[in-house]
This record gives sequence, C-alpha cells and structure tokens, in this order.
Amino acid sequence: MSLDFRSDTTTRPSDAMRKAMYHAEVGDDVYGDDTTVNRLEAMMAERFGMEAAVFAASGTQANLMALMAHCARGDEYIVGQQAHTYKYEGGGAAVLGSIQPQPLEFCEDGTIDLNMAKSAIKPDNEHFANTRLLCLENTQAGKALPMTYLEEAGRFTRLEHLNFHLDGARVYNAAVFHDVDVADITGLFDTSTCCFSKGLGAPVGSVLCGSHEMMRKARRWRKLLGGSMRQSGVIAAAAIYSIQNNVERLADDHENAHWIAEQLSELDELEVNYHAHQTNMVFVDVPATHVADLVVYLKERDIIVTAGSPIRIVTHLDVDRKAAAALVDGIKQYFVSLRSGLALAN
Ligand SMILES: Cc1ncc(COP(=O)(O)O)c(C=O)c1O
Repeated sequence: MSLDFRSDTTTRPSDAMRKAMYHAEVGDDVYGDDTTVNRLEAMMAERFGMEAAVFAASGTQANLMALMAHCARGDEYIVGQQAHTYKYEGGGAAVLGSIQPQPLEFCEDGTIDLNMAKSAIKPDNEHFANTRLLCLENTQAGKALPMTYLEEAGRFTRLEHLNFHLDGARVYNAAVFHDVDVADITGLFDTSTCCFSKGLGAPVGSVLCGSHEMMRKARRWRKLLGGSMRQSGVIAAAAIYSIQNNVERLADDHENAHWIAEQLSELDELEVNYHAHQTNMVFVDVPATHVADLVVYLKERDIIVTAGSPIRIVTHLDVDRKAAAALVDGIKQYFVSLRSGLALAN
C-alpha cells in the first residue's frame, strides 16, 4: 500500500472500526429510528457543549447546512479568503443559499483580524447585504487557532450581534494541540462542525452541533440537500468508534509532522513553513523546477504528496514514524542524487 501524505482524508477504516460498523444497530434515520445515529448525535452534542447535533454526509454538507441555518437570502457571512467554506465548497452558500460571502485575508496564524471584520460589517441600509455571521476554521491549514483569539472573537460576535460558526473539520486536532477539552473550543461558537473522515479515521461522515432551534433548521436544509440518510447507523458506528478510539492519538500525527518539518529543514534546497501552532500538516517550498520531478521520484517509491508550491504533507493514522522516515529519506535522496549529478556534470 502506498504511503499517502496527500491528506488525512485518505485513511482507511481499521478492522476494529469495520467490526463496529458490521455490528451496528440500525433503523430508518429519516423516521428518527436509527439508534446508532441517535447515539452519535447525543454523544457529539454533549462533547461539544451544545444542545443538539445532526449527522451529515460530509463536512461540505454540514457547513452548508450551518450557513443556510444562520443566513437567509441576501444575508452575508464573513469568512477567510482561503477558507474551505468559501473557496473549496463549490460556492454552495451562494449557489444554493443566496448567501453572499465577504472574504477577508487570513492572518499568518489562521485567524481573521477582528478590526478588519468590524470594518467589513455592512451598515443597516438597503444598498447592502445583511452581515449575519462570522465563520472561522480550526485548524486552518493545519494551524490551531490561539484560544485567546477564539475567546476574543466570541466576545466580538456578541458585541456586533453576529452569529458565530466554526468549520471544525479538524477541531479535535486543535483541542489535542492545546490540550483542552473540545468543548472549550466549540462552546465558544453558536454552531460547529466536525469531520470523522479526516484524522479520526472514519470512512465517511461529519456532524453539525448547535442549539435545538438551529439544528431543527439544519435538519430541514439537510433534507433539501439530499443528505437525509436511512440506515446510516452503519457509518455512524464508525464515527462513534473514531471518537472513542482515535482522538488522543492525533498527538502522534502532530509529533510526526513536527519531526518531518525538523528533518526537512536540514536541506538547503527547501524552505519549510512550519508555524508554531502547526498540527498535522507541513508545507514545504520546493524550487519550482524540482516540484514535478520530486513528486514523480517519490511516486516511484510508492510515496504520495500533494504537488504544488508549497508541497503539502499531511500526517495521519495510516502513516506512522516509519512512513515519515521513508518520506524524509526519499526527499533527501532526491536532492543528494541531484547534487552528485551536478558534481559529475561539473
Ligand atoms: C477545513 C475543511 N473544512 C471542510 C472540509 C469538507 O469536508 P468534506 O470533504 O467531508 O466535504 C474539508 C475537507 O477537506 C476541510 O479541509
């Protein structure tokens, strides 16, 4: 099997997880009869410090349900220029919700500057969309947002009468990084998502948590989006397994990413962008002339990374320290062979 560092979404369900799925008690969830989905939703609401939860097919769907529950036609959400909910979800909020995004450049640490956010709030006037929501992402490009910032952003939204949503696809990475209870993060927001299908290792599924009223609206939007599922306990069982077994181990992924960053920093040819709050992602600037060759060189060794400048390397439960060492070795070997080739040419 390839060593796949493209994303933590490439994890495969373990035998134990598959066993939990096999034995899942199921019913028709559209009738509210799937006891495994009900158990998952109750468990996530409790863990996130929220009243209720709705199981969704994907992170994209859970975010869109949230945006549509918070914002009506002609409303607006403030969001990062590189945020998943703006850039990578097909423009769903605009296409399906008639909701206008107000993108702002992320700061270096993945936060949105609150002064910039304040000046982006539109006056209450017929010329403008109604600014309704601030949407953050945690982790953002693998960076765990500072806890003090999150608290400050929460106060800001209350002061400005904005709703507050978290794209928490990797919120457990943030909680493990800060060594806090996940509710210390999610409890600051009105709604939060979480993806089970990333570092937590489940094959599919996300959740949206919030108040009873918000989840009532979100459940309706889920139906409209085609996301109401039937015997979905089969996948909810994998999500429950992932929360019960795969949260603490995210620390291993962070350590492996940190180790990879340290090792690659030794190479003069590379520029490793490793922020102090980085969790399971490493971004490496490779000289443009070498990106394609390096990716092919690694692929020949059954190692996959996301091509680009920077190259993105993501650690997860299917790539342990041995795999990380193989990756580092492959990259080092590429540049060593390049140098010796150049030496021969000289
Ligand atoms: C930050 C973030 N939010 C949301 C999503 C969407 O998740 P999904 O792929 O399950 O739709 C992703 C997926 O990579 C993501 O990285």
